[in-house]
Amino acid sequence: MQTEVVFMDEAHIDEAVLAEAGRWIKQGELVAFPTETVYGLGGDALRADSSRKIYAAKNRPGDNPLIIHIAKWEDIYHICRDIPETAGKLAEAFWPGPLTMILKKQDIVPLETTGGMETVAVRLPGHAVARAFIEAAGGYVAAPSANVSGRPSPTLAKYVLEDMEGKIPLIIDGGPVGIGVESTIVDLTEEVPMILRPGFITREMLESVVGRVAEDRTMTEVLKDVAPKAPGMKYRHYAPKGNLTIVTGPGERVVDYINSACREAAARGKRTGVLCTVETMAQYRADSVKCVGTRADESTVAQGLYQMLRECDDEGLEVLFAESFPTEGIGQAIMNRLLKAAGHQVIQL
Ligand code: TXA
Ligand code: MG
Repeated sequence: MQTEVVFMDEAHIDEAVLAEAGRWIKQGELVAFPTETVYGLGGDALRADSSRKIYAAKNRPGDNPLIIHIAKWEDIYHICRDIPETAGKLAEAFWPGPLTMILKKQDIVPLETTGGMETVAVRLPGHAVARAFIEAAGGYVAAPSANVSGRPSPTLAKYVLEDMEGKIPLIIDGGPVGIGVESTIVDLTEEVPMILRPGFITREMLESVVGRVAEDRTMTEVLKDVAPKAPGMKYRHYAPKGNLTIVTGPGERVVDYINSACREAAARGKRTGVLCTVETMAQYRADSVKCVGTRADESTVAQGLYQMLRECDDEGLEVLFAESFPTEGIGQAIMNRLLKAAGHQVIQL
């Protein structure tokens, strides 16, 4: 199959492209599209065969459920039941935006879409191109991140093409995404809402709207015998091909440690890389020093993280070190993704 890439950003909504994208989805094909978090791989959420196609294109385990993307609040009633009052409050505060809610599903949602679960994840994205595409596609688009399973989520259309070329007919290129890490997932099926995946919308932001919010402890700790409540969180996601270690401690010691570890690895013939910030990048010596963003504004780190991990692969780096980040605000999502990328290898100085 030939994969076409068409540019369409929020300022240039193109009805002809939307109509073409909508036709592909209605024919049971997949279309990749930009959202404010990462690129999504979209299919008709109400068709079991489309969902099966998504799993196949991503090489994704069948027990890892998909998120249904909608374009307007009312559509939630078609796919969810027993919707609690908290869902309306959260939608009012954060939709359209990077928040996914887990609710009980209606029978119309195939188990193929929910990975066999009786609950369903729903999100109303903040990206105008995403919403226009969802409308054109019939209103219910199942979309995981548009990467092959195990690779970092795509933040640019060229990375979607890298992973999906020949498998899907169309990629809508909306330019670089704004946030760079996937949406916050909150489970509303229990008494107290629970965050299953941290993202741009933080616990404090949720609590300011609905009161107490719990967190799935597996988000930041590795717990023996406790599986994460979001099935996808148990897989070693976002993994670069090189061996990544996070180094945490006082700034100067982190730089010294990483530089000497890189020297040692280079002596063994390994290609080395460092993921760091604008503040420290001049101090590192490695084959490749990657500036992920600035500590003065951690949203830049979220934005750059997946791209830098992919570049490490492209450059064939084998031994990688990353600085760590404080886990407040967006920092929690950054550390959650970094820890997964590193398979939880952390050196504490
Ligand atoms: O920002 C995002 O959410 C992006 C963009 C494309 O919208 N999508 C995304 O999808 O990150 P994906 O498939 O990569 O991640 C979906 C996560 C997985 O960890 C999955 O296990 C969890 O959502 N999930 C989906 N349905 C669930 C359910 N019913 N119960 C618990 N977790 C669920
Ligand atoms: Mg994903």
